[in-house]
Amino acid sequence: MYPLRRNRRLRTNAAIRHLVRETIITPSDFLVPLFVVEGKGVKQEITSMPAYYRLSLDYLEKEVKELWEMGLCAVLLFVKVPDNLKDNEGTEALNKDGLMQRAIKTIKNVCPEMLVMTDVALDPYSSFGHDGIVEDGKILNDETSEVLAEMSVSHALAGADFVAPSDMMDGRILTIREALEDEGYIDTGIMSYSAKYASAFYGPFRDALDSAPGFGDKKTYQMDAANRFEAIKETEMDIDEGADIVMVKPGLCYLDIVREIKNEVDVPVAVYQVSGEYAMLKAAAEKGWLDHDAVMMEQLLAIKRAGANIIASYFAKDAVKLMG
Ligand code: PBG
Repeated sequence: MYPLRRNRRLRTNAAIRHLVRETIITPSDFLVPLFVVEGKGVKQEITSMPAYYRLSLDYLEKEVKELWEMGLCAVLLFVKVPDNLKDNEGTEALNKDGLMQRAIKTIKNVCPEMLVMTDVALDPYSSFGHDGIVEDGKILNDETSEVLAEMSVSHALAGADFVAPSDMMDGRILTIREALEDEGYIDTGIMSYSAKYASAFYGPFRDALDSAPGFGDKKTYQMDAANRFEAIKETEMDIDEGADIVMVKPGLCYLDIVREIKNEVDVPVAVYQVSGEYAMLKAAAEKGWLDHDAVMMEQLLAIKRAGANIIASYFAKDAVKLMG
């Protein structure tokens, strides 16, 4: 009862505020998404993602060393596939000398302890820009899962520590887990994009990889933004099928889902603060309308406070630099 309880006592100065702070962000919270392209000496800024780049393997090498020195110890790889290598079945995804496979080896070569996670989905490889094989305008589920399983084995063979299926086909976690076990990759983990919503926030990412769907949208496989119970069901099923880490994506608009899943499950929960979230803040800051660093840290803190054990974020480097 007031004045026995004056909550402001715990806010009097920085020292007491630090002492009672409930949520702290550290470099080891982050998973750093990286975009890889063919070529040499290529560092292309992504138009809708200011200060974020597509990197050729030589630049990837430099970037990874820098990340490691900053205490950023986990990366999530995406590749931009040349148009002439795209087809409906994602054939190039299984090429053992493909860009993803070479990127994994490049990183493991210069920084063996860096945790390498790889995106597993067909969209960067698909001539239709969809996450699965297309037939008569539909995305085939089980046929796609088979390819994803082969793709996962190929990444494991190249040296990936974790595969991260981002496609939302039903049953793919089990198909992938069984394939990895059969091939002896018992230690290769799976981070499942388990509650991935059909979101308009992915726009800049699709620019980065030139992977926008050629027809329709992704609503027959990614989740409806209106749904909450379904996110829990999706997540529990993925855990039953063998997911080691689950994910909610996008981040900020879905923190209610993050908390609910965190309360429900006993595996680590990752949150993906996606490209559109990054672009919004960069744009507002460029106009001088928001304080970039302050808003960035507030958003990252909110994600962690909501229950994220792992934050995939394009702000990882900016945030760590700010931590000093
Ligand atoms: C595709 C994939 C997407 C993202 C990660 N993997 C886009 C999509 O589903 O269309 C989005 C990431 C971002 O926006 O930062 N499998």
